[in-house]
Amino acid sequence: MYNFIFQNPVKVIFGKGTIAQITPNIPAQSKILMTYGGGSIMKNGVYDQVKAALKGYDVTEFGGIEPNPRYETCMKAVEICREKKIDFLLAVGGGSVLDGTKFIAAAFYHTEGDPWEILTQGKPVSKALPIGAVMTLPATGSEMNGNAVISRNSTQEKLAFYSPAVYPQFCVLDPETTFTLPDRQTRNGIVDSFIHVCEQYMTFPVNAPLQDRQSEGIFHTLIEEGPKVLKNPTDYEARANIMWAATNALNHYIACGVPQDWATHGIGHELTALHGMDHAQTLACVVLGLFKHQKKSKLAKLAQYGRRIWGLSGDNDDAIADQAICKTEEFFRSLGMKTHLNEYGVGDENFEEIGSRFERRGIKIGEHANLGKKEVIEILRLCL
Ligand code: NZQ
Ligand code: ZN
Repeated sequence: MYNFIFQNPVKVIFGKGTIAQITPNIPAQSKILMTYGGGSIMKNGVYDQVKAALKGYDVTEFGGIEPNPRYETCMKAVEICREKKIDFLLAVGGGSVLDGTKFIAAAFYHTEGDPWEILTQGKPVSKALPIGAVMTLPATGSEMNGNAVISRNSTQEKLAFYSPAVYPQFCVLDPETTFTLPDRQTRNGIVDSFIHVCEQYMTFPVNAPLQDRQSEGIFHTLIEEGPKVLKNPTDYEARANIMWAATNALNHYIACGVPQDWATHGIGHELTALHGMDHAQTLACVVLGLFKHQKKSKLAKLAQYGRRIWGLSGDNDDAIADQAICKTEEFFRSLGMKTHLNEYGVGDENFEEIGSRFERRGIKIGEHANLGKKEVIEILRLCL
C-alpha cells in the first residue's frame, strides 16, 4: 500500500426527515445564500422543508444553476454574495448545484485575477465561504469531497478543481428526496458512482486488500440495489442504499493508499463540453473503450473484478478480463444506459480536438500518466 494522508471533515446527516437538522449546523446570525438548480426542489417539497428549517435566518435565494454548472452563472452569484455580505452558502439539489456552490465559495475570495484561473491554472484555493448541502441526487459524492467541476460556455471547456477549503461543513442526505428523480438521473447516478469506483480500483494491485474489498462492496451494492430503484422509485430502503453507496464511491476513502486512474472522467468531460452529453452517459461509453485499450496493464485487477464481482471462473486472466468487460456493458445496458457514442449521434468529428486539448495542457492521463493525444484518440475510437 502507498503512503497517504487522509482527512474528511464533512458531517453527514443521513435519513428520513433530516432536512430540519440543518438549523443547528448553521450559525444563527448567518447571512445565507441558498443555491439551487432549475426548480426540481419546488416540485418535490424539498424547497418548503428547507425554507421552514431556515425560518428566522437572513436568506437570499439564487436559483438557476444548470446541470454541468457554468462559470458565467456562478459569477453572478459571487456578485450577489459580495453585495449582500453573504457569509454562508447552502446548496440544495444535485451535484451540479453543489459544485457550482463550491466554485462560488472559492471565487468569492479570489479577488486578484479571474477566478477561472482556479480551473485553468490550478491557482490554489486557500480560503472559501463555508458550505452546507442538502443533496437530492446520489451520484457525484460531491457532498463528502473537495472536488468541483465547472463548465465555461464561451470556451466550451469543462474543468475540475480540488481544495480542502470547499468540503461542505455538513450534508443532509434524505433518501426520500430522491423519490422524484426521473429514470435518466437515477440511472446516471448509479453509473457515475460505479465508474468512480472503477477509477480507484481498476488499476494495478498494491496489496491493499481492505480498500479492494471496500470498493467491491460498493460495486455489489450498486449492482444489487440499482435495478430496484429503477423498478420502484419509492423503495426507501433501496434509495437509501444507493445514496450511501454513491457517497462512499467518492468520499476519498477507497482512494487511500492506492493508485488512481481518472482517464475515463478526463475524456468524458471533453465529450460533455463538446457534445453536451450527460456526465454519466460519457463515462459508460469511455470506460469500456479504456478497459479494452488498457487491458494488459489493468489485467490483474480486471480479472479480480471479473471473479469477485461477476463470479467468473477459470485460470485464464485474459479471458476473464474480456468477459468482465462484457458483463460491465451488460449491466449498464440493463439499466437502460447506452454504451456507444454513435448511439448519441457522436462520431469521430472531435476526436482530434479532444486529443489535442490534453496535449496543449501538457498532461498525460491514467494511473501510469502515459495516455497522451495518440492513446486518447485510440480509446475514443473503441467507444464508437
Ligand atoms: O436543476 P434541477 O431542477 O434541480 O434538476 C436536476 C437536473 O436537471 C435534476 N434533479 C436533481 N435532483 C432531483 C432532480 N429531479 C427530480 N428530483 C430530484 N430529487 O437532475 C438533473 C441533473 O442534476 P445534476 O446536479 O446535474 O446531476 P449530478 O448530481 O449527476 O451532477 C452532475 C455534475 O457533477 C459533476 C459532473 O461532471 C456534472 O457536472 N461531477 C462532480 C463530481 C464531484 N464534485 O466530485 C464528481 C463527478 O465525477 C462529476 O464529474
Ligand atoms: Zn463522475
